[in-house]
Amino acid sequence: MRRNRYVALLFGSAALMAGVVGCGGSSSSSSGGGGGGGSTGGGNQTAGAKVIDPSLMKNAKGSVTYCTGKDTTGFLKTWVSAFSAKYPNINLKTVEFPPSADEQRNQFIQRQQAKSGDCDVFSSDVIWTAEFASQKWLYDLTPYIKSRESEFLKAPLATITYENKVWGVPDTSDAAFLFIDTNKVKQDPTSWQDVYKMAKSTGGIVFQGAPYEGLTCNFLELAFAAGGEVLNKDGTKAVINSPQNVKALQLMVDAVQKGSAPKAVTTYMEPETISAWQTGNYSMMRNWTYAYAVSQATPKIKGHFKVVSFPAFQGAGKAAILGGHNAVISAYSKNPGAALQVVDYLGSEEHQIQNATKASLAPTLSAVYDNPQVKKALPYAAVLKQTIEQARARPVSPVYPQISQAIYKNVNAALSGQMSAQDAMKNAQSQIEKALSTF
Ligand code: GLC
Repeated sequence: MRRNRYVALLFGSAALMAGVVGCGGSSSSSSGGGGGGGSTGGGNQTAGAKVIDPSLMKNAKGSVTYCTGKDTTGFLKTWVSAFSAKYPNINLKTVEFPPSADEQRNQFIQRQQAKSGDCDVFSSDVIWTAEFASQKWLYDLTPYIKSRESEFLKAPLATITYENKVWGVPDTSDAAFLFIDTNKVKQDPTSWQDVYKMAKSTGGIVFQGAPYEGLTCNFLELAFAAGGEVLNKDGTKAVINSPQNVKALQLMVDAVQKGSAPKAVTTYMEPETISAWQTGNYSMMRNWTYAYAVSQATPKIKGHFKVVSFPAFQGAGKAAILGGHNAVISAYSKNPGAALQVVDYLGSEEHQIQNATKASLAPTLSAVYDNPQVKKALPYAAVLKQTIEQARARPVSPVYPQISQAIYKNVNAALSGQMSAQDAMKNAQSQIEKALSTF
């Protein structure tokens, strides 16, 4: 990719982040926003991409495959049956990739590089839009979504917008919370320092500390709250090696090394974290919203846990990281009409109400948060919506995967006691600089 394209992209992304989505609630935030790949102007990396014809959806039939990360909710089969009952002429198959976001990306990339239509529809993490759209791996869905844009929350919609085009439909949004066992912890912690202090004497906290995308999120939640950043405002320079970030990382290192969290968290992704929590042995867990429904279905946990927003970093601010998945259509799909029908279903109120009530996944449609069934099933629905609206995006860049790797590998090394927090941030800084210079 040429340097001039990169500069155009960064300009556009910064404009979007400043202009479209604020990030209130995160007093530390200076450059964040909900966008994950958006750009309001400039750039032509996506010129020539295929554009969907919405009329293909009428009377669509035949086979279509939906590729997604491992179903951590148990809800995949249920919605596929509901879809199949509604659209009997479409044979919807599913392929589950591993639970790690990085692996899901690898699997999709392998297929796209081979120009294979194996995944007609892909559940694409909010962080991949810039990369996939600029590779022209996705259908431009702007003609489909135009009339529906106002139905979606701005932050998730921004994650699937790039160079003013919309590359998919926001399926689920996401934010993480602190899950507290109320039998063990009697008071809500008021700071991250407090979280680890209380965890130490009440059973321990579990979170995602394995070297993968989830750890980047876990770290940035503390780092952004502490006042740290990853890139400067226009996204051209790495600024991760800061006293704020070292302080945030040191707090996490101490949590693991001094017994607030089991050392095994350095190998945990979401499934290991939830399994540990389900034993009922731990007093707290950091996890995404899907963990609410799983906890409700766990006899050892049900009835004595609560979901609270992250507290502040002592003396600084609060931050949540925007997660979620967009339904995108592969440019190599041999059945884009049926694929669009699937995507349309994923973006429907009917599906999103089910998703929220059965699997505690965060809707992307604003109205769904006010649905009485949703409010009943998700007592923290209003907090969830507000958290999503205020969450910080991860750095927006086509080299985001390399940036994230530089974060999670070094943070993991520090958590495991192989490297000091200072050295971890120093290494991350030089690796991110290198990633940025590859353009
Ligand atoms: C969740 C989030 C996603 C994030 C991933 C990291 O699935 O929705 O955005 O990248 O966790 O593990």
